[in-house]
Amino acid sequence: MRLIFLGPPGVGKGTQAARFSERHDIVHIATGDLLRTAISEKTEVGLKAKDFIEAGHLVPDEVIIQLMKDRLQASDVQSGYVLDGFPRTLAQGKALSDLLKQNGSSIDRVICFYLDEAILLERIVGRRTCPSCHSVYHLRYRKPETDGFCRCGTALIKRTDDTAETVTERVAVYNNETATLIAYYKGQGLLTEVNADRALDAVSEAVEQVFQESSI
Ligand code: AP5
Repeated sequence: MRLIFLGPPGVGKGTQAARFSERHDIVHIATGDLLRTAISEKTEVGLKAKDFIEAGHLVPDEVIIQLMKDRLQASDVQSGYVLDGFPRTLAQGKALSDLLKQNGSSIDRVICFYLDEAILLERIVGRRTCPSCHSVYHLRYRKPETDGFCRCGTALIKRTDDTAETVTERVAVYNNETATLIAYYKGQGLLTEVNADRALDAVSEAVEQVFQESSI
């Protein structure tokens, strides 16, 4: 099973991908998490990515494509995965297709979440994340059991790119560069759109329904 969760920043694709991964015992690959780990470990990829992320811009395709080529060769993902945050440009989408073709496989379904821009902003500004296990919380909608701490015991942080100014830039980047993937995957008959303007459980149910109806 190879799935892509697509959608603007803050729509909830990471939260839903984590839930789906747990429910179906499938690997969740989030490029944002891979990049943030690379930054904190000061790796070559991290050093290349840092300024782009903090400005709300996309990390260059060649960096991301190489990162994902390496990740998708690992033994834990050979039976499938849910991709969250990749691909994000047409070039990345085509590179993924080529890579899968070489291995005789393909994407099974793309779920594209949509949500009004004002709600995206509210979700992002109230988000708190765990730098250790990557769990995601919200000050209002998904509060941690202990204020300020993840269930794994690590102190929660606010992402450096979760400011109102950066979010506006990230949404513009999504509309200009990532939204072209909607037509790309629609043209291949792979895309289903899901309204993310519902409670967490209701969005999860909608995702589950898409999965069941796709008979993957
Ligand atoms: P990345 O980490 O992928 O960020 P993003 O795509 O901007 O998405 P977010 O993580 O902001 O949002 P999300 O949709 O996952 O929402 P979440 O579930 O957290 O990328 C960061 C940066 O890395 C990019 O800007 C770019 O620079 C770089 N990058 C990454 N991938 C790249 C690529 N392929 N190419 C180039 N550059 C790349 O939810 C948001 C909040 O809402 C949370 O607080 C959550 O608790 C809450 N919430 C979720 N669902 C609901 C709900 N139904 N009701 C109420 N609250 C909800």
